[in-house]
Amino acid sequence: MNVLKVLSVLILSLKPALCFRNDIRVQILTMVDVIRSYERPSAILANVCYDISDIKILAKELMQVNGAKTFQLVENFSSIEKFKGDGMVILLDLDCLNSGKILEDASQNGKFQNPYRWLLFSSELEWEAIMKSFENLSILIDSDVTVAYNMKSNGTILQKVYRIDSNSKIIPEKFATWSVEDGLSIETEAKRPILMRRTNLQGKKIGISLVTIDNTTTKTDIFILKDLVKDNLAKSSFHNVLPLYAFLNASSEIMFSNTWGYYINNTWNGMIGQISRGEADLCGTVTFMSERRSTVISYLTQPIKIQAKFIFREPPLSLQNNLFYLPFRTTVWISCGALMVLIFVVIYVNAKWEAMKLKVDNNDPSILKPDVSDVAILVVGAVVQQSSYSVLQGSRGRLVIFLLFLICLFLYTAYSANIVALLQSSSDQIRTLSDLLESKLELGVEDQPYTRHYFTTATEPVRKAIYESKVARTGYKPNFMPVEEGVKKLQNLDAPFAFHMNTGLGYRLIEENFLDHEKCGLREIQYVQSGVPWLCCRKQSPFKELYKIGLARILEHGISDRVNRLIYTRKPSCNSRSGSFGSVNMTDFHPVLLCLLYGIITSLLLLVIEILVYKRNNENKMQQKNDVDDRASEASLH
Ligand SMILES: *[C@@H]1O[C@H](CO)[C@@H](O)[C@H](O)[C@H]1NC(C)=O
Ligand SMILES: *[C@@H]1O[C@H](CO)[C@@H](O)[C@H](O)[C@H]1NC(C)=O
Ligand SMILES: *[C@@H]1O[C@H](CO)[C@@H](O)[C@H](O)[C@H]1NC(C)=O
Ligand SMILES: *[C@@H]1O[C@H](CO)[C@@H](O)[C@H](O)[C@H]1NC(C)=O
Ligand SMILES: *[C@@H]1O[C@H](CO)[C@@H](O)[C@H](O)[C@H]1NC(C)=O
Ligand SMILES: *[C@@H]1O[C@H](CO)[C@@H](O)[C@H](O)[C@H]1NC(C)=O
Repeated sequence: MNVLKVLSVLILSLKPALCFRNDIRVQILTMVDVIRSYERPSAILANVCYDISDIKILAKELMQVNGAKTFQLVENFSSIEKFKGDGMVILLDLDCLNSGKILEDASQNGKFQNPYRWLLFSSELEWEAIMKSFENLSILIDSDVTVAYNMKSNGTILQKVYRIDSNSKIIPEKFATWSVEDGLSIETEAKRPILMRRTNLQGKKIGISLVTIDNTTTKTDIFILKDLVKDNLAKSSFHNVLPLYAFLNASSEIMFSNTWGYYINNTWNGMIGQISRGEADLCGTVTFMSERRSTVISYLTQPIKIQAKFIFREPPLSLQNNLFYLPFRTTVWISCGALMVLIFVVIYVNAKWEAMKLKVDNNDPSILKPDVSDVAILVVGAVVQQSSYSVLQGSRGRLVIFLLFLICLFLYTAYSANIVALLQSSSDQIRTLSDLLESKLELGVEDQPYTRHYFTTATEPVRKAIYESKVARTGYKPNFMPVEEGVKKLQNLDAPFAFHMNTGLGYRLIEENFLDHEKCGLREIQYVQSGVPWLCCRKQSPFKELYKIGLARILEHGISDRVNRLIYTRKPSCNSRSGSFGSVNMTDFHPVLLCLLYGIITSLLLLVIEILVYKRNNENKMQQKNDVDDRASEASLH
């Protein structure tokens, strides 16, 4: 390998070009070796001031590097900017006159960031001079800038440089040395991933913005967590992010805002506003992902696996159904009816037959007469488990009546057993938002800026209808309430209620306040479509990748889990559903009352009709009697 290299140096030196200088030979070989050490260099852009023959050699050598597909000479920054794609390497000869201008332009356009990799080299300049010219360049932590200086065949030093922010000093990192004999020898330290070498931000202040609604205590409580209910999202998020500052050796600058941040009148307000203006760099409170927000912030991780949802206890079955109808299917009801009609007919025929064949005493009330109303009373009596004092006399008739009672007994047993079960059961019919909209549940929403935003700006028809007809009914105050109040209302099953809240906190309050059996049958329905909230940072933040690494480590090491367990609770488990019983209440009972009411109304109507009929009959009788009397008196006169 080394022999080959020495040979190639010799061959290069033997090139006919007279102006071929030794240091250019060294430059070319160094560059080629460095680029070979990079992963996947796709395009190589070069700004060099070589002769045409040297450039040909450079191009030829570079095209042999694995993966390099494009090699292009560029003269100014605009032609660099035109190139798109990953894994780009830019070679820049600092000895060229235009190099300063290119660097300045790149710095102003943020082109030292990923995916650009810069390789700067100079044979003439000393380290101090190079650093002086870098004074105003924003070569930040997410850059990959390598400087080769004082290039000699027996030993060239390559350093990577970066600065923590645009005001801080340039920090050099020794990257490698190069010599003709040994080639490129990369430092052990430099073999670690570039970002992992730069995790020490030396106490840089990083602004973090927290959303606090309660502005009295949260500001002092944020570290000690005395009250876990107020501003729990800010608290849990902040404690998830806090270890990041230790990881980066940075210091925090905590700022507060009173809302998450929405785009109103061409500006962002709240936390996103502070971030988009650069006052803060990190979100201190998790936020939902939205397309518009992603133009100013980048989403990092989802440390808090909680969501905002409607929670409700399954309402009793009687809320939406008539319990007294449910035990049998419709077909069974129809069959029963048909059976009763059949039995009615059979009994009637039997009675008729008996009346004809057996000479029965017509005045004996215990004998069933072939009369529609008598037979009907018998059948109805049997159906409702009552007896009738008039029965059939013959053995066939008695058999029919026996069968009727037997059938009714079995039907009755099945029916009442089922009613008992139904009285204790709850309804699982509410599964979607539209079920919720059509249900008789009252809806409430936890009072938070984000819920107010999502509910008032809903456009999707069902969601809009839920807000307009259930949460903010016209004429009433919108049903936004503190989480404690909502959970209390949730507990009371007599007034069925669904509450939209942060589930982690809501379940914590439920766990603390509900009785065991009340924790059963809790159901969730999602309203906000954005899912689990994210931590975020400024989109242009140079520390973005470092944040991602740090937050991923925080997740991996279980710190997030610990914080979340401290503040939130999972859905409480249902241990003793059977231990409870609910007394029958009016809702279960109201079909019966309706029945009674209709009965009373019907009987009153019948009474009125009877009175009318009676009066009319009386009048007729009087009329006839008068006529008879008149005729009689007429007759006596004659
Ligand atoms: C940049 O260089 C290209 C040729 O490489 C030239 O066409 C273009 O005009 C130059 N732009 C500026 C702004 O100098
Ligand atoms: C950097 O900026 C300062 C002030 O703006 C200026 O005085 C200095 O000359 C600049 N340095 C370089 C190398 O451009
Ligand atoms: C390289 O050679 C020069 C003289 O040509 C010498 O001064 C210098 O110390 C050498 N450097 C190394 C690293 O050997
Ligand atoms: C962290 O930064 C401070 C400067 O604020 C520095 O003094 C300290 O040495 C750094 N800690 C580590 C472990 O490098
Ligand atoms: C928060 O503080 C500001 C002034 O510092 C006050 O105007 C506002 O009413 C406070 N908000 C609450 C919810 O206490
Ligand atoms: C937005 O601008 C309009 C007019 O410019 C103003 O009436 C309205 O109050 C502004 N809205 C907010 C939230 O500032």
